[in-house]
Amino acid sequence: MSDISNPPLPRRAMLGLLATGAAAISLGAEAVPASQNGMAANGKRGKHEPNASHPELADRPGGNHQSLAPAAVDIMYRPAIHYSPKLGFMNDPNGLLHRDGLYHLYFQYDPDASLAGHVHWGHATSSDLYHWHDQPIAIDETPSGEAFTGSVVADPDNLSGLFKAGQTGMVAIYTRASAHSQTQWIATGLDGQTLTDAPGNPVLDLHSDSFRDPKVIFHAPSGQWVMVVALSRLHQIGFFTSPDLQHWTEASRFGPAGLLGIDYECPNLVELPVADGGSRWVLFVSINPGSPQGGSCTQYFVGDFDGRAFTADRPVAQIIDFAKDFYALQFYAGVEKPTAIAWMGNWQYCQEVPTHAWRGLMTLPREMSLAHDPIQGLRLAQQPAGLEALRGPRIAMDPGRIDAGSARQVALPEGQAIELSITFEIDNDPSGPAAGGKGRGGRFAIEFSNDQGEMLSIGVDALAQQAWLDRSRLRGFSQPFFTGQFSTPIAPRDRRARFRIILDACSVEVFTQDGMEVGTALIYPAAPLNLLRLHTSGSDAIVHAVELHPLAKTMERSTWSGEV
Ligand code: FRU
Repeated sequence: MSDISNPPLPRRAMLGLLATGAAAISLGAEAVPASQNGMAANGKRGKHEPNASHPELADRPGGNHQSLAPAAVDIMYRPAIHYSPKLGFMNDPNGLLHRDGLYHLYFQYDPDASLAGHVHWGHATSSDLYHWHDQPIAIDETPSGEAFTGSVVADPDNLSGLFKAGQTGMVAIYTRASAHSQTQWIATGLDGQTLTDAPGNPVLDLHSDSFRDPKVIFHAPSGQWVMVVALSRLHQIGFFTSPDLQHWTEASRFGPAGLLGIDYECPNLVELPVADGGSRWVLFVSINPGSPQGGSCTQYFVGDFDGRAFTADRPVAQIIDFAKDFYALQFYAGVEKPTAIAWMGNWQYCQEVPTHAWRGLMTLPREMSLAHDPIQGLRLAQQPAGLEALRGPRIAMDPGRIDAGSARQVALPEGQAIELSITFEIDNDPSGPAAGGKGRGGRFAIEFSNDQGEMLSIGVDALAQQAWLDRSRLRGFSQPFFTGQFSTPIAPRDRRARFRIILDACSVEVFTQDGMEVGTALIYPAAPLNLLRLHTSGSDAIVHAVELHPLAKTMERSTWSGEV
C-alpha cells in the first residue's frame, strides 16, 4: 500500500526540500505555553514546540558538512558485539519484534550524515540478538515528515484487517514528525523488509507538535491493543486503546510525575516478573534534557495497569542507569523473557563523539525483571541476555587475597570485547564495621588502562558504600557535557560486591547488585585499553571469584586489529 498523495522521494533529493522542516525542529525557538490538549492558544496548528533532541543543524558544532569517509577513529571505536550502523547517525531502537525466529531491530537513522536529522527507520535482523545483519531502510522520510520513533507488532490473526485473506504480517505504529505536527501513523509489512504506510494515516492526531513515540502492546485480558505515547511538553503519557490498530480511543493519561525535564519521550509499558514470584507493571519514560546526571535519561515507575490506566505505587521516579549513556529503551514484542535494548548515547554530546563516518550504538540486549531492594523497594534488575554463548577461552586470573596497596594485573587482547565477572570483599574483619565505620575503609578498583597513562576505573569504596565509574582519565574525547565520574550507592549483601563488566571498544556496561545498579557509558580512550589491574587501597581485599573472557565478535564491521 502506498501513500499516493505523498510519493516517497529519493533520500538525497529530499534533503534540500526538507531543509526548512529540519531547521524548524530546533532548540531555543520561541516557547509557547502548552495548553491541555497540546494545541496553540488560537486552536490552530502552527505553534512551534520543538523537539529538544534535534537541534538545528547549523547551530551544532561541526556544522552540517560531515564526511562519511571512514577514518581511523571509526575503526578504533567500532564495537565488536554491539549493533552500530555502518555509516550515518543512529539513535533510538524502534520496532523491536521477535517473529518467525528473527529478531528485528529498527532504529532512528540518518543514512546520509553522522548527525541527527532526516530521520528514517534503519533496520537490522538477527537470530540471536548479537549477530546482526543490515537490511534496507524500512521507512523513509517523506514530504509528510520524518519517521520518528515507534513500535512494531505482529498481527497473526489479522485483527487489524490490514492484510489480505490468508496473509498475516507486521504493523508499525510510529510518529510522522514535521515542523508543526507530530501524528501517529501505521505501516504494514509481510516480512518487515519494507513497511508501507497504510491508507487513512494519520491514525491519531491531537493537533500537537509534541506528541510522539507510540509503543503498542496487545493486552490479552481486555483483548485490545494499548498504546502508550508521550505528550512530551505536557509531561504526560497518553494511554489509547484500539481493536484494530486503526481506530484509537483515549483511555487515560499518566503524569506529570517523576522527573519532568523538557520533554517526555519514548514511553514503554511492560509486565515484569518479580524475583520472588508474581509480576508487576512498569512504565518507562525517557526525558530529555533534564536528567540529574545531565542531558537525557530514562526513568521508570512500578505499579498496576488495568487495561486502561496505569497507577504508580509511588509517584517517585527511579532512574535506570547511574551513568549517562542509556536512553529510549524499548522492549521486545514476541519474546518470553522481557528483553530490552536502549540507545547508548546522550543528547548532550551524541553528535560530537569522535567517530566520523558513523555515530550511535545500541546497548547489549538485556533481560529485565524486578527484585526487592531492602531499602528502595522494588527495583529493575538487568542482565545481559545470552552473552555466555560468546565467551572465548578464559583469560587466567586467580582469586585470593590482595594486600592493601598492592595490585594484580593481566594483559587484555586488543580489538575484542571483554567480559569480567568478579566477586570481592574489601574488609575481611568478620566482626563487621566498627561504630562510625572506623576500620571499614578501603577501596577496590578495577582498572582498564594502557601505556599512554589512560585509565577507565570502576570500583567500590567500603566506607562510603558506593560504587564509582570513572572515565575522566581517557583522552579521546573532551566536551563540556561529556562528564567523567559517576557513582551509585551499593550495600553489599553478605559484604561481598559482585560486578559484571562488558568492555567493547567505545562502550562499557557495568552490572552490580545483581543487576539492580547498572552504569552504561561511552568511553573514548586515545589508545586501546590493554591492561586489567585489580588494585586495593586502605584495606586488604579478597577476590572470591574472578572470570575473564574475550567475547567472540558478532558484527560484520571492521574493528581494531592493532593497526588501521
Ligand atoms: C528520542 C527522540 C524521540 C524522537 C526521536 C527522533 O531520542 O527525540 O522523541 O521520536 O528521538 O529521532
